[in-house]
Order: sequence, then structure tokens, then C-alpha cells
Amino acid sequence: IPVDPFDLVIFGGTGDLARRKILPGLFRRFNSGQMPEEARIIGAARSDMDRQAFQNMIREAVAEFGGPHDPEALDEFIGRLDYVAVDAMGDGGWEDLKSKLREGVVRAFYFSVGPSLFGALAERLRGFGLADDDSRVVVEKPFGHDLASARALNVTLREHFHEEQIYRIDHYLGKETVQNLMAVRFGNMLFEPLWNAQYVDHIQITVAETVDVGGRGGYYDKSGAMRDMVQNHLMQLLCLIAMEPPARFEPDSVRDEKLKVIRALDPVDYHQIVRGQYEADDSQPGYRAHVDNPRSTTESFVAMKLSISNWRWAGTPFYLRTGKKLRARASEIAVVFKDAPHSIFGPEAGTHRNVLTIRLQPNEGMTLGVTIKEPGPGGMRLIDVPLDMSFADALGPDAEDVPDAYERLIMDVIRGNQTLFMRGDEVEAAWAWTDPIIEGWTARGDVPKPYDAGSSGPEDALMLMHKDGRKWRDIRV
Ligand code: BG6
Repeated sequence: IPVDPFDLVIFGGTGDLARRKILPGLFRRFNSGQMPEEARIIGAARSDMDRQAFQNMIREAVAEFGGPHDPEALDEFIGRLDYVAVDAMGDGGWEDLKSKLREGVVRAFYFSVGPSLFGALAERLRGFGLADDDSRVVVEKPFGHDLASARALNVTLREHFHEEQIYRIDHYLGKETVQNLMAVRFGNMLFEPLWNAQYVDHIQITVAETVDVGGRGGYYDKSGAMRDMVQNHLMQLLCLIAMEPPARFEPDSVRDEKLKVIRALDPVDYHQIVRGQYEADDSQPGYRAHVDNPRSTTESFVAMKLSISNWRWAGTPFYLRTGKKLRARASEIAVVFKDAPHSIFGPEAGTHRNVLTIRLQPNEGMTLGVTIKEPGPGGMRLIDVPLDMSFADALGPDAEDVPDAYERLIMDVIRGNQTLFMRGDEVEAAWAWTDPIIEGWTARGDVPKPYDAGSSGPEDALMLMHKDGRKWRDIRV
């Protein structure tokens, strides 16, 4: 179903994110008929280029990052693009940009720029009369560096826009399988009654990447895995897994429940966190070379044990880990259920725990480990077998036209649906929980543990679970 006609202005329209994700994503929505005839996209950036040059730049970007396509469709899409050079900190270009905007269509402004420009852009959008109370602004992470800076950003944005106009992107919320977490939990009768500390032994959340930080070293070395991944993406996954059922799948209903989870998180003892940094090997440079900082103590890996102090989860630990340069790119959530209370088969039969694994990427799907009898005449011995479902197999061709995270989220902006965007208080609560952890590292002069590229992270991360008599699931595709 096509969305309403819109004018979408992308500040930072010539930047990396716009070329790799936003515009190729918009092209795919265009291809699937979701973009109405009247939709226009206007790139805005500092460079003094004309419309034609911008169109050429985006044509190349879409050809490279947009997947297979029909050249005629691409021509038509490129025809929707315009460009205006604007000076974010001055007056140049704003009147010109204003003259391109039409009345009676949705206006959305995507701030695909560093947070230091958010205030200047917001002020000018209002000052030059480009935005009104119905316009929408979209902001990217990093949304602040700590609680104080996130608060300051919220204050600045809210000086010019209402909370209902501000769309804070966490692209993990736009992933199909991340939304599936909610469908699985709240669309089935099967899981929810067992989804609590009485039946769940522990939950593991893994977001493992094989990429290094080469090329983004300047940003990354000031952030580290905690700020780059845990404060936002892993926190969102944790919220969706742990929250109470929202009354409705509506923005505030969902976001209220997520916020309660973050607020119920206990402070983390430093013994329960392991930081890591990948080392050089014979063939490749290590983290410190990638960020060009020989003494860097920033973590490219972090693993931790969390607890949530509420009725549902008291006593069930959540183990989280994420890192770069690991063995495989594999993101998954594993819900490990408790042992059956009593084995009628006796100790020699063995026991197995049910584990529900939700694979977020790649090979999206779900596996439920079920205990059955080992086949054969040897008496009652139990084994664990998977009930395995890949979404691609189960859904067939329908699984192929799934929009990627950015495409879906931008369409939601146009529809005016904030359910999959972070509310200001939610972001602040996540920083309020993150800050003391990072401050603790700084105060203690903590140095991350080295780990080999292509491994599962530092040994100490394995110990974090071993000492509780538990085990991480293997990182594999
Ligand atoms: C980004 C982080 O937000 O998410 C990157 O800044 C990370 O460091 C990326 O690589 C991971 O996203 P995805 O969609 O590839 O899992």
C-alpha cells in the first residue's frame, strides 16, 4: 500500500549512510510500489553541486548498494531526486530549500549528520519556516555520548519540535526478525506462560560481527562496544525479550513497557563484565592499529551478566555479548529453560534443557530444542533434537521482499508511526544505566582483555558463564 505523498529532505544527503542505506532503501520501496507518484526526495549538504551531479552520485550508489534492479525503474526514481546546498550553521541555501517544499504533503527531515548539527538544523528549519507542527524529524545514533549529552540533545530538539515529531532511529528495531520477537511472544499462547523466572534458567543475547573497525576508527575509539552496540541495539533486544505484554501495538504502549525494563535493570558489578580488544595476527592488524591509537583501552568486545529486578525476572540472569572480529556474523537470542523438576526415567536417561533460539541474522529463524527418546532398543535414553524453522523456508518467496531496516523505518516516519522509534526518556534511561559502567572502567583504569581475531572473544568471557555453571552457545552461522 503506498504511503501518503511526501517531501523528504535528507541532510547529509551525500554522506555514507545516505548513499549506502537510505537512498538504496528508498529505491527498493519505490520498486515495490510503496512510494506514491508525488513523493520527492531532496538531498541537502554543504557541497556546492547541482541537481544533475547529485542524481549521478545517487545513481551510482543505488547501482552499487541497491541490489539487482531494472535500469528504467532506476531512471524514474532518480527523477524524483533534487538537491540543495545548505549551510547548516549559516543562512545559505535555506530559502532555496524552502521554495522546493510543497504544501499539503508530509514533510520529513532526516538528520543524517553528526549530533553536533542537530540543534542548528532544528533551529533553522523553524526559523526559516520550513517545518511546522506536523513536520517530522528523523535523527540517527549516536544519540549522545552519555546521559548529559543525550539530555542536552533532547532539550535542543524539543525546543523546536514536539516529542511526537521526533523519530530517533535504532535500526535494529526496523529488522524483520526483531519485530518477530514481539510476534512470537505475543502472537502465540505457547511461550508467554513460561516466559518468566519460574521456568527460564537464563537468556543469552549475542550480536557477533566479523567486521573490524577499520575506516570508522575515529568515531569508534571514542565509543567502544558499550556505547556503539549495548546502550542501543542490545538494550532494545533485551527490552523486547523481557518486557511485559503491551496493551496494544502502539507507540506509547510499547515504549512504556520497554522503559520499565530499562529502569528495572540492576547496576552491574564490574566482576560481571568482560571487555575485550582484538589483537593483530600474522595477516591482519589489530584493533589499536585500526584506530591508529597504540595505547587505546577502548573495547571492541563486551560480555556481561545482567539482572532485572521485577516480579517476572528476579533470579533469571541475562547474559549479553557483542564484538567485532569474531568467529562469525551471528546474532541470536537463546531462551534456556530450566530442567524438568523430576526425571521419571532415572539419572541414566540424562536430561536436556529446552532452548528456544531466535536467530536474528543471518539465516533468520527459530529453533526449539526438544527432548525425545534416543531411537533404538537401548532402553529410555533421552536426546535433544531441534524443531528447526528458517523463515526463508517457511515463508518461501514472501520472505524475499522483506524491507530492510532503514526502508521500513523511513516508511513508518511517513506514516507517522513511532512504535519502532525510541522515545526521549527511553534513550536517557539507557544512558543512565550505561554511564556508571563506563565511569567505573575509567576510574579503575580498566584495560580490555586481548582476544584473537576470528575467536569467540576473550577467555574471561567464557568464564563469566562457566563460573555460574552455564555455557555460551557457539558463535556460528
Ligand atoms: C551500528 C554500529 O549501529 O550497527 C556498527 O555503529 C555495527 O558498529 C552495526 O557494525 C551493526 O548493524 P547490523 O545491521 O550490521 O547488525
